[in-house]
Amino acid sequence: YDLIRNFYYNKEDYSDKEVTISGWIRTIRDSNKFGFIEINDGTSFKGIQAVYDDSLPNFSEIGKYPVATAIVAKGKFVLTPESKQPFEIKATSISLEAPSDSKYPLQKKRHTLEYLRTIAHLRPRSNTFAAVFRVRSLASYAVHKFFQEKGFVNVHTPIITASDAEGAGEMFKVTTLDLLDIPRDDRKEVDFTKDFFEKPASLTVSGQLEGEIFALAFRNIYTFGPTFRAENSNTPRHAAEFWMIEPEIAFADIKDDMDLAEEMIKYLIRFVLENAPQEMEFFNSFIDKGLKDRLEGILKSDFERVTYTEAIRLLKESGKEFEYPVEWGSDLQTEHERYLTEVVFKKPVFVTDYPKEIKAFYMRLNEDDKTVAAMDLLVPGVGEIIGGSQREERLEVLKEKILKNGLKEEDYWWYLELRKYGGVKHAGFGLGFERLIMYLTGMSNIRDVIPFPRTVGNAEF
Ligand code: 4AD
Ligand code: MG
Repeated sequence: YDLIRNFYYNKEDYSDKEVTISGWIRTIRDSNKFGFIEINDGTSFKGIQAVYDDSLPNFSEIGKYPVATAIVAKGKFVLTPESKQPFEIKATSISLEAPSDSKYPLQKKRHTLEYLRTIAHLRPRSNTFAAVFRVRSLASYAVHKFFQEKGFVNVHTPIITASDAEGAGEMFKVTTLDLLDIPRDDRKEVDFTKDFFEKPASLTVSGQLEGEIFALAFRNIYTFGPTFRAENSNTPRHAAEFWMIEPEIAFADIKDDMDLAEEMIKYLIRFVLENAPQEMEFFNSFIDKGLKDRLEGILKSDFERVTYTEAIRLLKESGKEFEYPVEWGSDLQTEHERYLTEVVFKKPVFVTDYPKEIKAFYMRLNEDDKTVAAMDLLVPGVGEIIGGSQREERLEVLKEKILKNGLKEEDYWWYLELRKYGGVKHAGFGLGFERLIMYLTGMSNIRDVIPFPRTVGNAEF
């Protein structure tokens, strides 16, 4: 079954050899003497053309096979350098493996992405989604490869947790109690000590805090797992369930953090360009013209680095009317992020040193007492794909920030204790995996880069 991959990727020559191909019919057309079938055998983006003629005993039946029928084709492998496909199979037999109904919903025509979302059980068979999910798989492999080659330890942080890493209150509760009958406002009174975990528990929004524990033992670590946010925002870049990559590095500051992020993003871009050439060509032609040039350009230049204060000045001076006016102290909205990265700099931009009021409690307070050592990476077409920071390692400062953020010291006792025993400076970031895939493929909706998207009102598949 490795024939196609061997041919494309290992340049193996099968000329005039007898081969067997099994797969699903993608297209079929015939005349009264010949027929052509494009078979998808699942192993490569491009299908395989099988040519057959009326010498086959079941010639007339084959012509009636609907799209998606599973077949086995045997025959001779012939190079066809003059035609569109580099080779074809001259079939000596074609047999039925599993039939398909003629009302197969994915006929050979252009379907809208919205329609394809309603048939998530079939869409991986379409060109677009075959390309997206192969790139997603390769990018996932490349993430592990990148960190493992650098000696980072992969940590499986918990999915069910009692700590709120972001303090943003967007957590899904995990409970065995039946709370639906209790009015929302009264649920605070529920005695969770009688629940399974004997305290309130939730699905994690980030593995960072647990990641820090491991960074202070292994020095360099990363997590790569699902995270959950009950954000009620219906946007093309927010999902309730998404995957995050969170490296954490000890004896490191915010500059080391940005250097790592930049090296990683470039590595991932290079990896998919080299390992998914057909898929990337497809995106470049049909999804986002100019994608490949843009990504290749990024490999050759440094990312921009500006402070939040500088970014606000640039946005104000731009004279552009934003829906949300910009003021020092307010968070950057998607429109601001995209303006900075697409219009001002035309490349990925790190924005650093945000006001402490709009960032999480764990970020290190700067000397000015107003800003924190935060860094967000913004990229053209998507906006923020990374959020990170140097962590507050000073016990007293951290305690104060926990209080000021309305959190309880006792809930973070172990996090605080890390600062007592060799709590060196350390930093880390979170890369949203779906946003990375959007960036790599040019797909513009997060629902189209995750196999089974979870958004408000959507958990069908
Ligand atoms: O900026 P965020 O909230 O940062 C953290 O969670 C930190 N604890 C990370 C760290 O320092 N270890 O989220 C990080 C990234 C965002 O930049 C974005 O790419 C992605 O996660 N993200 C989402 N992706 C899809 N849907 C959502 N609802 C997302 N929320 C965040
Ligand atoms: Mg963020």
